Amino acid sequence: MRNLDTGFDKVYRRIESRVSELPDSLIAHIERTRDLAERLADIHGVNPQRCSMGAIAHDLARHLTESQLLVESQSSNITVNSYEYKAPVLLHGPLAAHWLKSDLNCQDEEVINSVKYHTTGHPEMTDIEKIVFIADKVEPDKVQRNPELELVVSRMEANLDATVLEYLKLRIGSILDKKGVVHPLAIDTWNYFLQKNS
Ligand SMILES: [Fe+2]
Ligand SMILES: [Fe+2]
Repeated sequence: MRNLDTGFDKVYRRIESRVSELPDSLIAHIERTRDLAERLADIHGVNPQRCSMGAIAHDLARHLTESQLLVESQSSNITVNSYEYKAPVLLHGPLAAHWLKSDLNCQDEEVINSVKYHTTGHPEMTDIEKIVFIADKVEPDKVQRNPELELVVSRMEANLDATVLEYLKLRIGSILDKKGVVHPLAIDTWNYFLQKNS
């Protein structure tokens, strides 16, 4: 595996081949996320191919059950924190990022991080990471199912930081309304972008 070609097109095709084995509904979500990521990349002058790669790889582990996510993460030496033990779905980004690097031989750390952190975000996200994060959250089907997201969509062509903040405000707010636990990375991301833009 280690000897696999690290060229962009080769890595991209290996990811596409893994995507083709996923459940149909997940493939459809990944394709909508890819299309939006490429469009946002064009609008914001960011490399569309790298955004596209992050988008097609982001949910490679989303079909696994909670116990599979825990077992796979532990056998891949991914550190599992208390939040992730309680909600193993949080591990699907880190696990997909691990596969991207170790199995599919992607060496683009920004693309790898865009996959790793697509659920929570993280402070100092780069534009590629922001675009994959946003495209996953507001691809058309998700907006149709949750019209509240229109507010996030209304920001995405003008300003990526403002879009991330708008999304986190909605998401963290709804978790707090339900007295749920907010992942510390989501809070850190909120604080970081709020201070950066104030
Ligand atoms: Fe995901
Ligand atoms: Fe997703």
